[in-house]
Amino acid sequence: MSEENILISTRNLTKRFGSKEVLRGIDCDIKVGEKVAIIGPSGSGKSTFLRCLNLLEIPSGGTVTVNGEVLFESDMQQKGDELAAIKKKIRDLLSGEYSEEVQTHREEAEQVKADIKRAREELQEAKMKVKLLTVKIRRSRGKQKAAEQNHSDNSKDQGESLSMQLDAAMSSLEQKLDEITDLKETLAGINAKIRQKKREARQVADMDELARLKEAKKEASQAYRLAKKEHNGAMKRTNAAIDEHRRNMGMVFQHFNLFNNLTVMENIMLAPVALGVKDLKAKRKELFKRKLKGKDVSEQLSSLPEKLEIEENAKARARRLLKRVGLEDKADVYPSTLSGGQKQRIAIVRALAMNPRVMLFDEPTSALDPEMVGEVLEVIRELADEGMTMVIVTHEIGFAREVATRVLFIDEGVIKEDAPPKELFGNPKDARLKEFLSKVL
Ligand SMILES: Nc1ncnc2c1ncn2[C@@H]1O[C@H](COP(=O)(O)OP(=O)(O)O)[C@@H](O)[C@H]1O
Ligand SMILES: [Mg+2]
Repeated sequence: MSEENILISTRNLTKRFGSKEVLRGIDCDIKVGEKVAIIGPSGSGKSTFLRCLNLLEIPSGGTVTVNGEVLFESDMQQKGDELAAIKKKIRDLLSGEYSEEVQTHREEAEQVKADIKRAREELQEAKMKVKLLTVKIRRSRGKQKAAEQNHSDNSKDQGESLSMQLDAAMSSLEQKLDEITDLKETLAGINAKIRQKKREARQVADMDELARLKEAKKEASQAYRLAKKEHNGAMKRTNAAIDEHRRNMGMVFQHFNLFNNLTVMENIMLAPVALGVKDLKAKRKELFKRKLKGKDVSEQLSSLPEKLEIEENAKARARRLLKRVGLEDKADVYPSTLSGGQKQRIAIVRALAMNPRVMLFDEPTSALDPEMVGEVLEVIRELADEGMTMVIVTHEIGFAREVATRVLFIDEGVIKEDAPPKELFGNPKDARLKEFLSKVL
């Protein structure tokens, strides 16, 4: 098949969650009209791969290319990091004039600052303690008075012990204050040393060298600004392309993800109407801009659809799709009144309402009661027959064998086998695949 037929392709796609490498280099081309089934053990990275394809998940490395346009490139993120590094370098450029001694002093100063912070916290604690004890003593004095009248000296003892505790707390408070004063003096000393060293450094520094460094900094800053602008532009273009790409991909999950507070019709219309209105606003804005420049745009403006028209079109399309899956009578009910199989058929319709170029299914029948699996698979099969490009993660081996044009076996984050179903199921080569098939077949 020629390259133009490749819809989505990944190269060395990796994804890490923390230190866990979930995808470890996936190379995969999905061609227009292909029906790709993905099988593999639980936790092997199948869902993560699907989510990386429509960039619901941002890959850690590699590339995702759609219609020949690179949507994700690990370079793009690296470039951002590189820019930050350049910025730091610029900042550091001039500090080359200072000696290592200054650096050492700076580290000392950091340490002393941390000590001051700690001492302040301790001071706060000591203050609280004094406050508490003062309250306690006040209360105890009251009790003592009452006790004197009753000729008991129990509470007098208590009062004395509290006073002693208060004395101790007060003295620790004073100690903390002294400690902070000392630390501040030390810090001032260190800072004075840093200033002195810098002065010395400036005196001994070659003035020409300094001037050269300043010039270099200026140049680097200019280069940085340019690179940053370029990078931002690229990111903006990429984000727009990602948006466009997501529109072209319908995704169906294991757990339907319908909005329970919206009717079936509202669920289906939600995204197409929102996007239609968004596009409309963008077009209007663009036309008004041109108008401001003195161009005549009245004809184009009047040919734009009204919001009502967008809604009506979306509704008509939704009805057609509902009819196709045999659920036209469910338009106005809420999802909670539907069976699992019906919900999943609605979820498929909702994805189709965006008129996607490819459908991604992530175990669409795994959450269903067995008697409902058939009706959902039937809808997917019909879509396949109509030529829809699709990627489906499934445990339905029989279905994959019948409908898929290609099967991928993903294991431990890599594609271990990639072959037409007849070959993959009839003559599996990978040992892990053999083991897997012996369990599921
Ligand atoms: N958002 C996440 N954060 C951390 N770990 C994740 C996340 N998503 C998936 N994982 C881990 O990645 C591995 C692969 O998950 P997944 O792609 O869902 O596998 P599969 O769909 O093949 O069962 C699992 O170990 C899972 O725990
Ligand atoms: Mg999964």
